[in-house]
Amino acid sequence: MSNTEDIIVIEGNQKLSGTVRVSGAKNSALKLIAASILSHDICKIDNVPQISDIAIMCKVLISLGAKITTEEKALTIDTTDIDSFEASYFLVSQMRASIAVLGPLIARFGHAKVAMPGGCQIGARKIDMHLMGLQKMGVNFENDHGYLNATTPNGLKGANISLEFASVGATENILMAAVAAEGKTVINNAAREPEIVDLCNMLNEMGACVSGGGSPIIEIEGKNIEDFHGCNHTTIGDRIEAGTFLVGGALTGGPLTVEGINPNYLRTAIMKMRNMGINVESTDDTITVSRDTSKLLKPIEIQTLPHPGFPTDLQAQFMLLACYAEGTSIITENVFENRFMFAAEIMRMGADITLEEHHAIVNGPSMLQGAPVSSTDLRAGASLALAGIMAKGQTLITKVSHIDRGYEYFTEKLTSLGADAKRLSMHEFLEIY
Ligand code: EPZ
Repeated sequence: MSNTEDIIVIEGNQKLSGTVRVSGAKNSALKLIAASILSHDICKIDNVPQISDIAIMCKVLISLGAKITTEEKALTIDTTDIDSFEASYFLVSQMRASIAVLGPLIARFGHAKVAMPGGCQIGARKIDMHLMGLQKMGVNFENDHGYLNATTPNGLKGANISLEFASVGATENILMAAVAAEGKTVINNAAREPEIVDLCNMLNEMGACVSGGGSPIIEIEGKNIEDFHGCNHTTIGDRIEAGTFLVGGALTGGPLTVEGINPNYLRTAIMKMRNMGINVESTDDTITVSRDTSKLLKPIEIQTLPHPGFPTDLQAQFMLLACYAEGTSIITENVFENRFMFAAEIMRMGADITLEEHHAIVNGPSMLQGAPVSSTDLRAGASLALAGIMAKGQTLITKVSHIDRGYEYFTEKLTSLGADAKRLSMHEFLEIY
């Protein structure tokens, strides 16, 4: 039975406390795997989360001719014999982040054929900025029956590129092509996420010449692709997984510690937690939250923005926090056009939320009640689990495959922190309940 039919059953009124180690960052590891295409060698990438998105990205590389072995959290990727530049519709349609192979395939072959990624629940997920930047570098694109057919008739040339929005994906694809272009490329208004820095570091370990990663201006001196070689790289910790568990600790009082994360990756989220009255302490690779649950949280105003602004991937988690604040909080989603589906689900649990275009007005405090709910995207799904832990009564979460995309051992980590959470197949569920 496919795990998409599994159900997570959560008993309410629980407390989350203790220590949990975060996994490697999904949104870095996916691109690090794609970057390995740039060398005809072996890349070893450590601290890779065992989640379904990673499995799909590995399938994409294997379909191109790579050999991949997995050992615990480490991937060993041999790209010596990659002989295809075509990423299949079937695989790309399973995970739109596969578009990250576009830049490296163009760099390696001067040609790429990648299925156009679809949109998803949270938005259209356009790639016009990816294409604009690559076109400036001499790439021609044709739409060929749902595939992007990329060619470089006059070779890949460095260019001065300005992004109208600091797109993570566009920065990454342009970056992974520019490292092997002829001449210098400058990306202005580049994305500054920690995952971008991680990718720049790995590219340099492979022989590239990238500077300015993490700043709004990234400069790349193109190198001969034949000079690229393998590397040993360790993925940074997942700041969104860390933020998710920290919200669970803040809601229930904690103390809860996440380890294996650089607190500098979550500066804005930590500031917002402190503004709500949550105690936050950190060391160089841990963050601990606690609060006196006899006092209500203070309301917040949040604008989601590119890093170092407040991360859109923590928007649902903080909407849940706002449900337990005294007063009105306003959450504005500036990154994706349709990322408030979580609100509809927690309103079924008793939350008082009004949606007005890209603003969510949350009135608190609400004492949520357990209910059957459905995971609409991976961050909403994880937030529903936290809502269930806080709520009165039992919560049943369906469509848990969304959660599997980005959270490794999610139910196990929650139970290790004190949650009463079980993952059952539909068959087991129907037998028990
Ligand atoms: C990455 O998506 C992450 N995914 C997202 O995480 C994250 O929310 C997002 O960055 C922002 O931080 C991965 O890394 C796999 P964008 P990405 O390009 O690269 C629009 C999660 O939950 N846009 O910065 O797609 C786009 O439609 C996921 O882990 C264009 O219009 O993000 C979106 O509205 C969700 N044209 C906005 O920009 C383009 O060419 C931000 O997109 C590119 C993007």
